Amino acid sequence: MEQYIIKGGKPLAGEVVIGGAKNAALGILAAATMTDETVTIDNLPDIRDINVMLQAIEGIGAHVEHSAPHEVRINSHQIHAMDVDNEFIRKIRASYYLLGALLGKYHHARVALPGGCNIGSRPIDQHIKGFKALGAKVSIGQDMICVEAEHLRGSHIYLDVVSVGATINIMLAACMAEGRTIIENVAKEPHVVDVANFLNSMGANIKGAGTDIIRITGVPKLHGSTYSIIPDQIEAGTFMFAAAATKGDILIKNVIPKHLESLTAKLIEIGAEVEEFDDAVRVVASKRLGRTTVKTLPYPGFPTDMQPQMTVLLALSRGTSTVTESIFENRFMYVDELFKMGASIKVEGNTAIIDGVEEITGATVFAPDLRAGAALVIAGLAAKGYTMVQQIHYVERGYETFEEKLQALGADIEKVDVDDAKAVRKFKMKVG
Ligand code: EPZ
Repeated sequence: MEQYIIKGGKPLAGEVVIGGAKNAALGILAAATMTDETVTIDNLPDIRDINVMLQAIEGIGAHVEHSAPHEVRINSHQIHAMDVDNEFIRKIRASYYLLGALLGKYHHARVALPGGCNIGSRPIDQHIKGFKALGAKVSIGQDMICVEAEHLRGSHIYLDVVSVGATINIMLAACMAEGRTIIENVAKEPHVVDVANFLNSMGANIKGAGTDIIRITGVPKLHGSTYSIIPDQIEAGTFMFAAAATKGDILIKNVIPKHLESLTAKLIEIGAEVEEFDDAVRVVASKRLGRTTVKTLPYPGFPTDMQPQMTVLLALSRGTSTVTESIFENRFMYVDELFKMGASIKVEGNTAIIDGVEEITGATVFAPDLRAGAALVIAGLAAKGYTMVQQIHYVERGYETFEEKLQALGADIEKVDVDDAKAVRKFKMKVG
């Protein structure tokens, strides 16, 4: 088991290049199984969730070639099984995209039920509602979900909840169904749009992604494609907030500024400077930041995946702020960890009331999930003294070479084995 060891207090400065969007790539990799022709996908992040998805696709018979760094070539014409069940795939929630993809192409799929995770129960009732509306039979048993259909026919589907996963999964199942499908009350995240654009590059006919209504005309076949995944909005936001929390100056490259608007607005509101370029943003914070009120919302609102990072920033700001989590029911577990560092935060229901403090101090903390883990790293970078962040396998699900990118920005951070006291001593000698 590994941990990050951090000596905080240094402003981050320099440039960082953002990788491809994890949450677009997961849907795109599933979509790639819907053609018998070769698909080349570039700007693919080299992170655990992506590699697990690639193993799952190979596991059902697709040919996957790592043709270059951050690039894969997938050919699925030899897919022989529609059963996706292995211990890896149970670890990532997005395995359920293979339900929509294999249902859409082969009219049949069995996939291990996605694990919940620490931020909430993560139901899939809206996915099932969409599959059934298209004519599929859905059965759940032995911890597997099975979908099958004689025939998939377009339908008019109204989502009861704005759901990224359900929007993408229903798009996958509907893009080769007969006739027209209308999906209302859809998620508008950049990664939803990226999956729609990828499917259209394969010959699908999907209109309206990024708006409240997606209209699909089914096509009989999808062809190969070469596609580059959009930059990761949340990785970019995480580095933006790391710059602000350490009173640094970072140029964050390979981003789409429009996708970061809600984050930029909040940073400016609390006193940071944000400069936008065509494909980069520069974040500078030279003084202690101010207070604000945040509520997480579906895109284009403030993203729930940046909620922990926002709380860390406000924990060090002047005044009292509130952060309300409206998407998931259990996404404040990391607050107990921040308490160990001297933060003054009270969670009441789905709102954190944050009394900003001048300084937090290093401690040994445990990442409860992916984005909270990244937020605890930011806290360690801003804290006085040494912080150990444990359970970092969560962080590595979504951030490629996280500690190396932070080191290049001047951070004193290393990844060491939790039992390696010598490595900890060596780090402390080195950074002083
Ligand atoms: C995606 O999860 C992301 N994961 C999450 O990012 C992100 O937090 C979330 O969207 C919201 O933006 C991936 O894309 C792999 P939802 P997803 O369906 O699709 C409820 C990260 O850190 N709901 O949009 O599972 C659900 O309980 C991860 O990268 C239903 O009620 O999220 C939640 O309250 C964490 N029924 C709300 O909708 C359903 O059938 C939004 O969930 C589906 C969802």
